[in-house]
Parts: sequence; structure tokens; C-alpha cells
Amino acid sequence: MPYPKQVRIVEVGARDGLQNEKGQVALSDKKQLIEMLAGAGLQHIEVGSFVSPKWVPQMADTAELFEALARKEGVIYSALTPNLKGLEGALAAKADEVAVFGAASETFSQANINCSIAESLARFEPVVKEAKAKGVRVRGYVSCVLGCPYEGDIAPQQVTQVAKALWDMGCDEISLGDTIGVGTPEKTRALLEAVAQEVPLGKLAVHFHDTYGMAIANIHTALSMGISVVDSAVAGLGGCPYAKGASGNVATEDLVYLLDGLGIAHGVNLDRLCEAGWFISDKLGRSPTSKVSLALKGREKDCLMTNL
Ligand code: HMG
Ligand code: MG
Repeated sequence: MPYPKQVRIVEVGARDGLQNEKGQVALSDKKQLIEMLAGAGLQHIEVGSFVSPKWVPQMADTAELFEALARKEGVIYSALTPNLKGLEGALAAKADEVAVFGAASETFSQANINCSIAESLARFEPVVKEAKAKGVRVRGYVSCVLGCPYEGDIAPQQVTQVAKALWDMGCDEISLGDTIGVGTPEKTRALLEAVAQEVPLGKLAVHFHDTYGMAIANIHTALSMGISVVDSAVAGLGGCPYAKGASGNVATEDLVYLLDGLGIAHGVNLDRLCEAGWFISDKLGRSPTSKVSLALKGREKDCLMTNL
């Protein structure tokens, strides 16, 4: 299968990235970040989560954030909704898309959403039904697709079962999450081959955390198999509060650079994207983890020096 001509990037930095921050990020900074991301050309942006504020305090202001956002036409602004209470919040906030999130590992499911896989699927069913009835797109996440922080290896068949259940339920797209970033290209290939037996490949997205530095290699494998939806986080922000040691998602800047190198369209302006990455990184008091962003910054500095 040839590479796709175009890739839709799902920018998860404001959600997956910021949910893991120790300190609270100001609402005005989140708003500015998301507006900068939309300004850079990203067309699918996760704004936050309608989850228990006791479990993930960093996402407690998601409703206010939706309210404050100046939305750009054509952009999908989405939110995580683990149950009907979450969906209620997302609908009131006029989210364009909601996401339910399950796992291929029982132990992770308990740690993340306090219920078994079977219970989670039963809980998601009315969420998906109600969202669809309201004309809202639904994404279904599966976590721990290439390994679990508690159970270790996860068989592709386990992932396929959960992905199929979410697909049969009516999710529009299934995002496969390597939550702890342990995957490698051949494992990614085996996973996608297995899941594509039950869910159309064109409806699958990949979501790689970059803990072991394999995310770009894994994405390259996925693209070569025809995957055309890829999740990433500006500046490589993030981690999961219920997966110790998990680092951020693949940096959107690095993904964009890869796509450019492969001649795949994505609609994002890399310079403006880097500005958004530096903006939020400055607010968090650190540098982006994106190698591309750091390289471009270095080049900018060199140019300034030679112009002196
Ligand atoms: P629970 O304690 O079992 O739920 O939590 P409950 O129904 O018994 O409710 C307990 C309390 O939470 C109640 O409040 C509810 O009102 C409240 P209290 O009476 O104690 O004051 N509550 C809510 N509040 C706001 N919004 C809601 C909501 N639901 C209940 N929607 C629950 C179950 C799922 C709510 C909880 O476990 C939770 O919020 N978990 C959040 C987990 C999370 O956000 N994890 C990170 C995102 S997933 C991820 O990062 C992976 C991903 O990136 C892919 C990958 O990388 O693999 C997507
Ligand atoms: Mg994630």
C-alpha cells in the first residue's frame, strides 16, 4: 500500500499534554495555545476532557475553555468524555467531537477509569448513541495497544477485540494508543494488520507516546501501510497521569517534518507551529522536546549571529 496523499493530524497537546502537568496552566494560556495551533493550520484539536476533577484536576476548566475559545471555521474542537456526565458537559460546550477511551489491558482500565474493560464498553454505549443522535462525531481510543505499564506485553488480538467493540458501537474513528511508548515498527505492523481485520484501515488513527524514541519510526510504518490519521502533541507535551513513566506524545513538529519529507500533505505551517510550541513551553518553564523545533531554533540563532 502506498503512503496516503494527505494526513489529518489530531493535535492532542492541550489535552494529553497538559493533563499531566503538576501545576495548573492558566486558562488564558490554554486558550492562546489552541488559537495558535488553529492559526498554524491544525484542523483537529483536542481541547480538554470532561472527566472527574478529582482524578485529573488539570482538565477541570475544560467547559470554561470551550466557552472562551475563538473558534476557527473548519476546525474540529474535541473533548474526552468517559461517561454520560462527561457527554453532557461536552454537548453543553458545543464540542464538535467527543471521545470515549477504553484500554486493551484490564489493569490499566481499572487504574484509568476505575472499571473493567467490559464495564467501560457498557458505559460507552449510551455515550456513543446519544452523541450520534445529536450529530456529534465520536472517537474511540484504545490504550496500551503495544504494552501496559502493569501487565507488560499486550497481544494484538486483545486490542482488536476492544477496537472492534468500539467500532461496532458506532465510533467514527478508532485511535490506537501506545500509552507508554514501548512499540517498535514491526510490532506496529503486526498490530495494524490484526486490527484492520475488524476495523477498516481508513478508520484507524495512531497515537504514539515517544517514551523510547520510537514514535516517528512507528508512524512511518503506519503511513507505509496507508494510515492517514495521526495524533501528536505540539512540543512533545504530555504523558498519562495513570501510566507512570509515560512521556509525551510524538511532537507535532517532528511529525510535520516527516510528512514534508514524504511529500504528504497536512496543511500545517511549521514555523507557526513551532511558535505555538515555544509559547507553551515558555509558560511551562522548559524547552520543547521536539528535535525539529530545537534544530530550527538553533538555525535561527546562527542566522542572527552571522547577521551581527
Ligand atoms: P468514578 O469515581 O468511578 O466515577 O470515576 P463515579 O461515577 O463513581 O463518580 C465519582 C465522582 O466523580 C462523582 O463526584 C461524580 O460526579 C464525578 P462526587 O460525588 O464524588 O463529588 N464524575 C465526574 N465529574 C466530572 N465529569 C465527569 C464525571 N464522572 C463522574 N465526566 C471516571 C470514573 C471515569 C469519572 C474517573 O475515573 C475519571 O474521571 N477518570 C479520568 C481518567 C483520565 O482522564 N485519564 C486520562 C485520559 S486517557 C489517556 O490519556 C490515554 C489516551 O491519551 C490514549 C493513550 O495514550 O493511550 C486517550
Ligand atoms: Mg495519550
